[in-house]
This record gives sequence, C-alpha cells and structure tokens, in this order.
Amino acid sequence: MRVVTIEPTFASFRDAARALLDEGVRPELVTWDDGERQQPSLFDASVPSAPGRRTTARVPAAFLARAEIAALHSDPSRWDVLYRLAFRLTHGEPGLLDDAADPDVVRLAELASAVRRDEHRMHAFVRFRRVEDEDGEAFVAWYEPEHDVLALGGEHFARRYPNMRWAILSSRRSIAWDGRALEVGPGAPRVRAPEGDGLEELFRSYYASIFSPARTNLALFEKHVPSRFRAEMPETAVVAELVRDAPERTRAMAAKKTSPSLAFVPPHADRDELARAAQACRACDLYARATQAVFGEGSTSASLVLVGEQPGDQEDIQGHPFVGPAGRVLDEALERAGIPRREVYVTNAVKHFKFEQRGKRRLHSKPNPVEVHACRGWLETELALIQPEVVVCLGATAAQALLGRTFKVTQQRGQIVDASPFAAQAVATWHPSAILRADKTDGSMERMREELVSDLTLAARTAGIGAHARKRRAVRVL
Ligand code: URA
Repeated sequence: MRVVTIEPTFASFRDAARALLDEGVRPELVTWDDGERQQPSLFDASVPSAPGRRTTARVPAAFLARAEIAALHSDPSRWDVLYRLAFRLTHGEPGLLDDAADPDVVRLAELASAVRRDEHRMHAFVRFRRVEDEDGEAFVAWYEPEHDVLALGGEHFARRYPNMRWAILSSRRSIAWDGRALEVGPGAPRVRAPEGDGLEELFRSYYASIFSPARTNLALFEKHVPSRFRAEMPETAVVAELVRDAPERTRAMAAKKTSPSLAFVPPHADRDELARAAQACRACDLYARATQAVFGEGSTSASLVLVGEQPGDQEDIQGHPFVGPAGRVLDEALERAGIPRREVYVTNAVKHFKFEQRGKRRLHSKPNPVEVHACRGWLETELALIQPEVVVCLGATAAQALLGRTFKVTQQRGQIVDASPFAAQAVATWHPSAILRADKTDGSMERMREELVSDLTLAARTAGIGAHARKRRAVRVL
C-alpha cells in the first residue's frame, strides 16, 4: 500500500496523481493523506508528490473541470474517487464519463454539485459589516462554508463589489479583495469578524422592501436558509414581522401591481413542474390562440440566463424557445461568443405566442405592457429558482420587463447594469429578430450581429461560463 501525502488542494493532488499514473500505480494500492484524516501507519511507505512534473496521462477537459470543483468537497474520500477516475480514464476507459450510471462518475457529479450548491449558498448568505482601518472604509464578513468554496465564491463578490475593500473570514481560510486582486489567506478565529453595524439596519430595510408577501413560505425559508447561517443574517430579525404582515400586504399588492400569473405558480416547484403549470395559465388572453405555453429551457444551475420577448411561430408549434429563424441567429452568436447553449437557460418575458393571422401566415405581434406584466410572475419565478449571476435581455420587451419601463436598448445596450433582485447583473442587447429585420444594404445587419456577439461575450465573461470559465477548462494534461 502506498500512502501519498498531499496538501488538501487540487493542484497538490494533481501533481501526485501524475507521478502515480506515470508509474501505473493502481488506485486500490493508494491511500491519500491530505492531513485532514487520521495519520497513516508508520509501516506504510510514503510517496512524496512531484510538483510540476510532466506527464503523458491525458484526460478529458470535462474531467479536469469537474474534478477541480469536486476537490473542494470536504469528503475525505474525494481523492480516492478522483484518482480512480483518472486511472480508469487513462487505462482503457477513455469514454468513462459518458457512462452516467457508473458509480465513480455518479459520485464525481454528486461531489461537484454539492460544491456548486455550497458556492451558491455563499453568494446568498455572506453579510458584510463595515469597519474602518488606517486605509479607510472596508467590509468584513464571517462565513463558514460546508466545503472549501471561499476562493471560488469570492470571485462573485469581486465582480459584484469591485471598488470596495472587503474580506471574508472563515475558520479554515480567508479571502481579501483590495480592489485589484483576490488574495487567499489562512483562516481566522470568529472573534476577528466585526459584530453588527449601521449597515445591518440598511440591509433589513432593503430585505423588507424586496420581500414578497404573496410568496411567503416559512418552510422553504427554513429549508434554504440553514440555521447555522441565520445568526449572521441581519434580515432574520425582521422575518417574523414580515410574515405577520404578509396577508395584509398581499391584499394591498393585489389591489396594485402583483403579476396575475403568480396565482398560477405552484409553491416549491422545480422547472418541470413550473413548465407544466404554465400550460394552465389564464393570467391574460394570449393562451386562447396559442398552441401552448413555451416555457424556459436549459440548465437550472446556469449562471447566465437569456430572456427573449415571446415565442414565435416555430416555437409555438414545437414548444421550445428560440428554435425558429431568430433562434438560428442566436445560436450562431452564442457559438461565436464561446457559450455552449446547454450551459445557459433560455426563456421569454411572455410565454404565449401573440400573432395576427394573414392568410395562412401567423405574423408576430408585439405583446403589450399588460400582457408582459401578466406573464412576469413566471419569469420572476424562473429567475428566483435559477439565481443567475447575469441576465441577458434580448430586446426591449425583456429589458423593460426586468430593468424598468424607461430602459432604452438602442442607448444602453452592451453595458453591465445592476439587475437586483433578479440577478446580480444584466446586459441588454439586440433581439435576434431585430437583426433579421435590419437593413442588409447599409451594413446595419452586420453591425448589429457583431454587437450581439460582443454583448454575449461580455455577459459570458461576467458570468464566467463557456469559453470564459475561469481557467478550469482548457487544460487536458492531468
Ligand atoms: N423570439 C423570442 O423572443 N423568443 C423566442 O423564443 C423566439 C423568437
């Protein structure tokens, strides 16, 4: 039996795994010791890692991407799983990852998605407190993740608060942003984190203002906000009061502006249940002439969501968003922007096709503000489920639904704007159908096509997906 001593990091594992693979050491002969589980017996031979060593072992880039994430899991047996997979991939099973029933492949997916969930929890539950030091104002949060996601989750805060100085402390690691670079440091005791400050009051009133009384769901709150996070969250102090007032506020909202489709949205639903429920939506009259509601599709853990206007003729018939001529323009732009469509979620502001019948043809007719408002509950629910980092609004209808009625795509496209509470950020761009309608002869069509690609590229970089995923993907040598 070989005991391989590594640091509890993917880089250290990879160095050691390379050396073992080059020697052909079988996984069942290896015990991994990352210092976090019990010490090996004195009788075991120790194999030091070989930093930076070159290897001939080649593994799919998809494996490296997933393994790097899975390595952040706290399960001590993750190194066994990763090495077993690396060994099998390089010893006669190159297509192993396509076998979705293989126990190692299943475990890799479980580890990676638990880490991603923990990263999302970190985005949602970190609460900064304002402090003053010799350099002025800074913000410090205490946050204890379940897995080693501090550096991963920190990238989100660096994008979100690029001009603030901030640090997130946990017992195992800390990260700090000075306005230029993210630095990972050692853990810090809980006492180093500041207690409440004036910002908490601000946060409570912000939370109270975005709290939706019509969708009060304490069971869901308890499920999604584990008790260990609640003490750090100033808004928990106002939850009881908000819940008590919810029925009254719901009535008041009903008299004002709540989207009528929220009445058709089932509680606790996943994407498929929502898509089924949307078929029964009667919040406006568009359902009566459309073939079906066309719900959003794609990855529900996507960090990038694309929102169009409404399904067209082909989408209405086939039941999928962006599969007609506008979809082809979009697909080509996505490809040029380095965004695999399967990695994003694609939906529309309005879920039913609105058209005028001209002979045999059904011509697109723009949904009016009442119809957009009626459907908005579905879009809000999709965004609340996915919690993307970035929303791309394709055209004015989507931009005005999410960014306000005065938003002008012609003047404001291609800029990163705040999109709370729907997403951290948004970018508005041309609708692909507007490109199809543009003048070919004066260069407008080509210019808009290029602008769509560059706006999508900006969104992908901001969300860190596809070809813009942060470093993880391109490498192929283990
Ligand atoms: N136009 C849209 O806005 N959405 C679609 O799904 C198709 C065309």
